[in-house]
Amino acid sequence: MDGNGRWAAAHGVTVAEGHRAGARALRRTVEAAIDLGIETLVVYAFSTENWQRPSDEVADLMVLLSETIDDELPDLAKQGVRTLFLGRRDRIEPWLQEKMSALETETAGLDTLRLWIAFDYGGRAEIVEAARRLIEDGLDPEDVDEDALAARLYAPELREIDLLIRASGELRISNFLLWEAAYAELVFTDKLWPDFDAGDLRAAVEVYAARQRRFGARAAT
Ligand code: IPE
Ligand code: MG
Repeated sequence: MDGNGRWAAAHGVTVAEGHRAGARALRRTVEAAIDLGIETLVVYAFSTENWQRPSDEVADLMVLLSETIDDELPDLAKQGVRTLFLGRRDRIEPWLQEKMSALETETAGLDTLRLWIAFDYGGRAEIVEAARRLIEDGLDPEDVDEDALAARLYAPELREIDLLIRASGELRISNFLLWEAAYAELVFTDKLWPDFDAGDLRAAVEVYAARQRRFGARAAT
């Protein structure tokens, strides 16, 4: 969900306002995803690298997550949205960790759409953590294969990502879902995230639907 800062600059408002506009775009996008029949949506909200931002911006993002949990996600839960968090928990302040866990528990039975919020998430950190778990579990080297590692990622049930959308005109992955997106179709849009809407999501899904996926094999003739 990229481009909040540039959106804020373009509108002459604070970066915090840009992030708030981004949170509104998230709400809109989740509702659009429900309308399209999408079952699983992962959004990148805060990366392992974002801690390097100015401390007041980091604090604002923590408060914004808390406000989103209080104000937006209960409404989405009424529409059947199960929310889960993907990433490290140990660096997030305990009061916020508790809110995150409470929301996961409260929405655990819902199944219209599964919303994963990647927060203090990094693809490399996730793979390193999985490698550590392989060692902790005492696997023999010959038993280390893709299934064994994938089973130790943060959310093994996430499996493969089909479509990865990057907003704001940047053409990079930025450490998002490195393992899970190995064969994802990539779609880039110049829209800044706060301007992203249902039409943009639909357009990306249409581009995806027209792609031919071969997963490294020959296409059937
Ligand atoms: C939001 O956009 C992404 C977050 C880290 C919350 P940015 O804050 O990266 O916006 P730009 O890239 O400065 O425009
Ligand atoms: Mg950015």
